[in-house]
Amino acid sequence: MANYAVITGTGAFVPSRVVTNKDLEWEIDTTDEWIRTRTGIRQRYIASDEEPNSYLAVQASKKALEMADVRAADLDLIIVGTLTPDMPMPSVACLVQKELGAARAGAFDLSATCSGFLYGLSIADKFVRDRRRMKVLVIGSEVLSRRVNWDDRSTCVLFGDGAGAAVVTGTREPRGILSTHLHADGRLWEFLTIRALGTAHPVTPEILDKGWQYIEMSGRDVFKNAVRALESVTWEALKANAWTPEDVDLLVCHQANMRILDYLRERLGLPEEKVFINIHKYGNTSAASIPIALDEANRSGKLRPGMNVLMVSFGGGFTWGAVAMKW
Ligand code: ACO
Repeated sequence: MANYAVITGTGAFVPSRVVTNKDLEWEIDTTDEWIRTRTGIRQRYIASDEEPNSYLAVQASKKALEMADVRAADLDLIIVGTLTPDMPMPSVACLVQKELGAARAGAFDLSATCSGFLYGLSIADKFVRDRRRMKVLVIGSEVLSRRVNWDDRSTCVLFGDGAGAAVVTGTREPRGILSTHLHADGRLWEFLTIRALGTAHPVTPEILDKGWQYIEMSGRDVFKNAVRALESVTWEALKANAWTPEDVDLLVCHQANMRILDYLRERLGLPEEKVFINIHKYGNTSAASIPIALDEANRSGKLRPGMNVLMVSFGGGFTWGAVAMKW
């Protein structure tokens, strides 16, 4: 008898400090109007030095575990999608495992930028289909404010910090995750990159002077590729489940840019109420964006049992993907 992976709990957490577009007007050469009309963003949360990635991830996880009524000690696996870990070693997942006291759980980080949560969910799906009783905690968590160049107004206004988490376990009922779709195109990596802080470039004063420790983005190339990839993976997921756009009850897309979300909604002919939007509150939180959105939709009653939910993402790498679910 087939097993299905279901999400039984969600959680989200953001740092306490809110930075509005108006606040940014004091710091950099920008305006609230430019940011709102180009991106839809009105504010973002910025972590303090006492709020590293793992701290945000732990807080979101506690909420997800509480909702799922699962003890940390019963977790089998912790997967964290992130591009901004506390440090190269250990992984954020190991720090989360320690803080939660999830002694039985394996733990690893996954590097798929903004698609990290959907990549993680896909892996959880495979484990749980194999062993129905497995309990997997999938997290997307980022502190992007440390990786943006606050002297580059074209990128620093876009990003925010936060974390979201989901508890995934098994059922014999045909619901939960119905299909997963993962893609990448490494040829286009230079359109969105942080060149340094890995092993390709030593951290020298020259490298730091060039700003290679920060996010570099070719905005228009990202936009062009994002809309193309998001639309194509959406159709792929619809086809895999014999759905038409009308069958989708809620589209939870990576919150990168309001214009990308509007484009996708128009291409699919979906009404506004079927596309979840919270970019105005958080900015682009990369791997955290979908699980934060999912948790908000869940807790606000927008997600109800039996609904067809489609999650789609796109990010640096490039990576993109989709997960179709019966909630
Ligand atoms: N405030 C005021 N002016 C600005 C700002 C700012 N924060 N940033 C750029 N400008 C100026 C530029 O200097 C330029 O001025 P100029 O014409 O005098 O040279 C002008 O605005 C237009 O700049 P463009 O970069 O051409 O602006 P564009 O309309 O392309 O919008 C944006 C930029 C919003 C980044 C757009 O390209 C975009 O949405 N790209 C997608 C990027 C994205 O979503 N990235 C997220 C990461 S990837 C992901 O998560 C999917």
